Amino acid sequence: MSSEEIRKSFLKFFQENGHAAVPSSSLLPDDPSVLLTTAGMQQFKKYFTGELDSEKDFGSKNTCSIQKCFRTSDIEETGDKTHLTFFEMLGNFSFGGYLKKEAIHFAYEYLTGVLGINRERITVTVFSGEGSVPYDQEAYDIWHKEIGIPADKISKHGRSDNFWGPTGNEGPCGPTTEIYVDGVEVWNLVFNMYYQKSDPSAGSGQAKLELLKTPGVDTGMGFERLVVMLQGVESVYDSDIFADLIKKINEVAPELKEREVRIFADHLRSSIFLIADGVRPSNKEAGYILRRLLRRILAYQVIYDVHADLFPIAHEFVKEKFGKIYPEVKDSKIMEVMIAEKSKFERAIANGISAVKKYEKISAAEAFSIYETFGLPFELVQELAPEKVAGVSREDFQKEFKKHQEISRAGAEKKFGGHGLLLDTGELKAKDEVELKKVTRLHTATHLLQAALRRVLGNEVSQKGSDITAERTRFDFAFSRKLTTDEVQKVEDMVNDIVEKDLPMNCVKMDKDEAKQTGALFFFKEKYPDEVNVYFAGHSLDEAFSKEFCGGPHVTHTAEVGKFKILKDEAVGAGTRRIRATVR
Ligand code: SER
Repeated sequence: MSSEEIRKSFLKFFQENGHAAVPSSSLLPDDPSVLLTTAGMQQFKKYFTGELDSEKDFGSKNTCSIQKCFRTSDIEETGDKTHLTFFEMLGNFSFGGYLKKEAIHFAYEYLTGVLGINRERITVTVFSGEGSVPYDQEAYDIWHKEIGIPADKISKHGRSDNFWGPTGNEGPCGPTTEIYVDGVEVWNLVFNMYYQKSDPSAGSGQAKLELLKTPGVDTGMGFERLVVMLQGVESVYDSDIFADLIKKINEVAPELKEREVRIFADHLRSSIFLIADGVRPSNKEAGYILRRLLRRILAYQVIYDVHADLFPIAHEFVKEKFGKIYPEVKDSKIMEVMIAEKSKFERAIANGISAVKKYEKISAAEAFSIYETFGLPFELVQELAPEKVAGVSREDFQKEFKKHQEISRAGAEKKFGGHGLLLDTGELKAKDEVELKKVTRLHTATHLLQAALRRVLGNEVSQKGSDITAERTRFDFAFSRKLTTDEVQKVEDMVNDIVEKDLPMNCVKMDKDEAKQTGALFFFKEKYPDEVNVYFAGHSLDEAFSKEFCGGPHVTHTAEVGKFKILKDEAVGAGTRRIRATVR
């Protein structure tokens, strides 16, 4: 069976058995507790908790799906025969419809009846009972008595193997039964009965369990693994999911080793899917992951001197192979995003390589400084100069990262006295890490706002005051009349355009008078020391979109600001306007 036929057969089987087929949700989940979608059940969480009603939304208590998933934990592992960053997960779900009996029978029937897998090849596991959750006698009996799996092919395991719940997070969870073919796990059936309350003080595994409003079933079967098994090939890269792309990469880049070819194939496919779902390269969260995947490929191209342009080749392949089931991958913007990242990388790497060359040996602190200055991720320094960083592990690098974060936080606290507040400059206020992140984004947004106002309304605009909370920025400025709707829109668009461009936010220390010469804006009410920090958005001070005297903190790149929105424009006294704006 081709991979396409396998997908179809799965949906068909469950549809015929009373399930509504639901399209995959985005890799970027609505659920703020996860960075990227890692399981089929994520889009259905609210049906288990009773917040949403499956019958109302899908016309059935039971659904099935093929879900796009991404697991960041496997990035380092990619390149061997089994690990992938992006993968698809087949799943059937029930929200208060059926439970263990039907779930087990459906799975068995699909594997043996539809796919024709010989029952001799099958072994299963059930939950042995642990803590407050009892042994799953019922699942055992269904397998043994109803289906006839011999006792020696059913093993019992505790929480670490046969209990599924969201790691370190809140969500539905419960005991599982797993199905193995030739000793390889193919399908995980979760009987969701509980809701795991995240309780950091209790440590994971000890988290509080509450009974679920709508108990039900959540199953997940890794698609690629199933395809490998059914097609009898050695790895997913030999299956029809990847074979054409692997062939193409080998053709145009014969200098790559087998492991790198696999990394290319995996990362190219993943990146395209991430971009198709709206992820853009940046220095945080999902954007950072995307940047890492793309830059890893680009770095290998440099190392192996690969000149072929693999981005369009991969995009053609993904469109052809996956476009029918995931039409979003056909978006022509995908190539634009990849090309833009490539040119950014080329700048970074040119500077980074010459920096790396200057070192005999690179310590963790130096690797961090290379990262901070040139945006060259640690992995790349490792790949570019393995012998120079031989003694430094990823953990050492992470420690430097943490240390740096603590230093900047300590700096802010000391400087502003603390008083129970993490940060209070009179302009910015934040009481914890989360708020600090938000006000930092709003702070950069305020700089961009002032620069945009001056471009749209002229140099009459000058700052009269500002106040930033975690919800919004409030910016007062000198200007004699009300803004037109058109002008407000123009200003907003201009800020968003700079956000989209993802300019670096830089800072230089300068003599005060010299700083004034550069045209950097400063606030007349403020008394500045002889040496000042000038923050600017852009690659150089000369061409910066915005430059201001400022004590920080700011984001490192403008994309981190997020979508900017002007909420209100009003007058405060003669000749002074006030704009309230927020970021999303
Ligand atoms: N949520 C379970 C898993 O991810 C079953 O879908 O394995």
